[in-house]
Amino acid sequence: MTGGGLPGGATPGFARGRRLRSTPALRRLTAQTRLAPADFVLPVFVKQGIDSPQPIGSMPGVVQHSQESLRKAAAEAAEAGIGGLMLFGIPADKDPVGSQADAADGVVNVALQQLRADLGDELVLMADLCLCEYTDHGHCGVVTPAGVVDNDPTLDRYAAVAVAQAQAGAHLVAPSGMMDGQVAAIRAGLDAAAFTEVPILAYAAKYASGFYGPFREAAEGAPQFGDRSTYQMDPPNAAEALREVRQDLAEGADAVMVKPALPYLDIVRQVADAVDVPVSAYQVSGEYAMVEAAAERGMVDRRRAILETLTSIRRAGASTVLTYWAVEAAAWLR
Ligand code: PBG
Repeated sequence: MTGGGLPGGATPGFARGRRLRSTPALRRLTAQTRLAPADFVLPVFVKQGIDSPQPIGSMPGVVQHSQESLRKAAAEAAEAGIGGLMLFGIPADKDPVGSQADAADGVVNVALQQLRADLGDELVLMADLCLCEYTDHGHCGVVTPAGVVDNDPTLDRYAAVAVAQAQAGAHLVAPSGMMDGQVAAIRAGLDAAAFTEVPILAYAAKYASGFYGPFREAAEGAPQFGDRSTYQMDPPNAAEALREVRQDLAEGADAVMVKPALPYLDIVRQVADAVDVPVSAYQVSGEYAMVEAAAERGMVDRRRAILETLTSIRRAGASTVLTYWAVEAAAWLR
């Protein structure tokens, strides 16, 4: 020991933080945040009427699945030990009320049925509960003749979609439309249909984000007029996120989500500190595309950057991360 030092090894003037960083084993032993495959949920897209997977231009490595290719991908996800799947359906036909979202033979409900039969309870199966992929106007709810997204009539639609998803085999439902009162309406609908045990993971703090861009191509759900700023949250606001979370919990949500993840880590932390339910964060399509594009151009080390983003989201307080890298990252962690 150089430098004299006090009893116990303390050195006057400064602390030797490097001591615990000096070998990989010491760093591993003292790591405060760990990633595990079970933390991850993989979002997947399933499109009606295709027989082979279609690449998504803005999300290299992600595809729109056919029913068959989805079954294969789901089996691989289960094999990788990830926590669950979040399904998004792209129907062949869209209409003003999004009928295909709750049709028993609708693309996402057929997929849920098949995956539940294939995998049982091996993975947590959930589907995004929203209308934007199913409406011809691309908004998350029904719209008035004046083009305003109409909150209360949308609630009945969400309740019907929740029941259809539960009937098809969803282990939990995840409303993402940001209508006021949606959790209460969905809880009442599920309970009335005897699905009292199906939990609700509320996309409670969902921001009107520019980072959803690539998703709109993946899910073919871009609004045909206007944008989502009248229902999704405004990026400058933080207190409102806590209010949304508290409101969803009061309405009966079992778990809550913050979305997007990386630009909103402060919100993830505040929510995690404020609640006693599981907190998820959704690393969205634009976050994915950003790293993939930079890595492709040699600007960042892809694997390092990906694992660092996932670690940061967990460190901020999310217990679950929805990420398009779920299966690949799970393989790295093995
Ligand atoms: C549907 C929904 C969206 C996303 C998840 N659910 C799009 C949106 O709200 O515009 C985005 C996911 C992603 O970008 O990866 N409401």
